[in-house]
Amino acid sequence: MQAIGVIGAGQMGAGIAQVSAAAGYRVLLGDVDQARAEAGKAGIAKRLNRDVEKGKIEAAARDRLLERIEPVASVSGMSACGLVIEAATEREPIKRAIFADVGKVLGHQAVLASNTSSIPITRLAQASPDPARFVGVHFFNPVPVMGLIEVIRGLATSDETVATVRTYAAALGKQVVQANDAPGFIVNRVLMPMLNEACFALGEGVATVRDIDLACQLGLNHPMGPLTLADFIGLDTCLEITRVLFEGSGDPKFRPAPLLVKYVEAGWYGRKTGRGFYDYSGSEPVPTR
Ligand code: 3HC
Repeated sequence: MQAIGVIGAGQMGAGIAQVSAAAGYRVLLGDVDQARAEAGKAGIAKRLNRDVEKGKIEAAARDRLLERIEPVASVSGMSACGLVIEAATEREPIKRAIFADVGKVLGHQAVLASNTSSIPITRLAQASPDPARFVGVHFFNPVPVMGLIEVIRGLATSDETVATVRTYAAALGKQVVQANDAPGFIVNRVLMPMLNEACFALGEGVATVRDIDLACQLGLNHPMGPLTLADFIGLDTCLEITRVLFEGSGDPKFRPAPLLVKYVEAGWYGRKTGRGFYDYSGSEPVPTR
């Protein structure tokens, strides 16, 4: 089995490293420096410890999984990887700089993939060493729990590249859906308008945070209400993707809800900042409206 490179050791990157190692791949996990990469691995260890406590995995299996993940200070060791997945911050200049860096070491057959949730794959491919070997692989949060990978083909992506990531997804035990390079791909194209609409409803005083969430959770049998989910994803990320849908399509139906914009302007991004539609400072989230 060829090694997998994962660049970005945050929530998504660490999740991707974890499920790749669980499938038996050796994983090189990189970030801006060694310390961040180590911190990503420490987070994985913490989650796996909880799984051991719950009796979901054996301690020995946890240890073997962790041994397969090697935090690295730079991408230079990734020349041996058959697949390198970028899961860095959702900013195009950052991703472009990473692709330039990886381009110096990427093997001649290796595939470079991006976990972007919204940036067009065809455009990103232009910054990659070979657009034919560039593809979108979109994971869902929490990566170990969610059973889907969206594979997004850029205009130049080759059939071999798609086959490589399909084989990888199958090894992870995830289902694959394939999307063309349209704004939001499939899931976010459908999800973000729903979350955005929940923000409109809240802003227009239709109902409280609690009632909007409970209505959708129980009335639609969703695991989380839309405002809880928006806080979970990050309101900044939701706004960014909604803007991509709006600007990419030119269709006013995707315009961001004013309340969503305000919350992001206030720095209330959801769980990650301790406040969004809920306040996370106590032991239980408390609705703020
Ligand atoms: N990492 C690993 N496992 C996790 C986890 C995490 N971060 N969070 C929860 N889990 C596991 C728990 O260990 C538990 O496993 P078990 O049942 O085997 O013990 C299981 O998930 C259920 O967790 P909990 O009992 O703590 O809580 P819930 O039942 O409320 O489930 C949830 C939590 C799985 C997050 C569930 O609420 C859910 O599925 N929510 C919707 C998530 C969703 O829609 N994600 C997609 C977001 S969109 C996206 O990612 C795309 C991007 O581009 C925006």
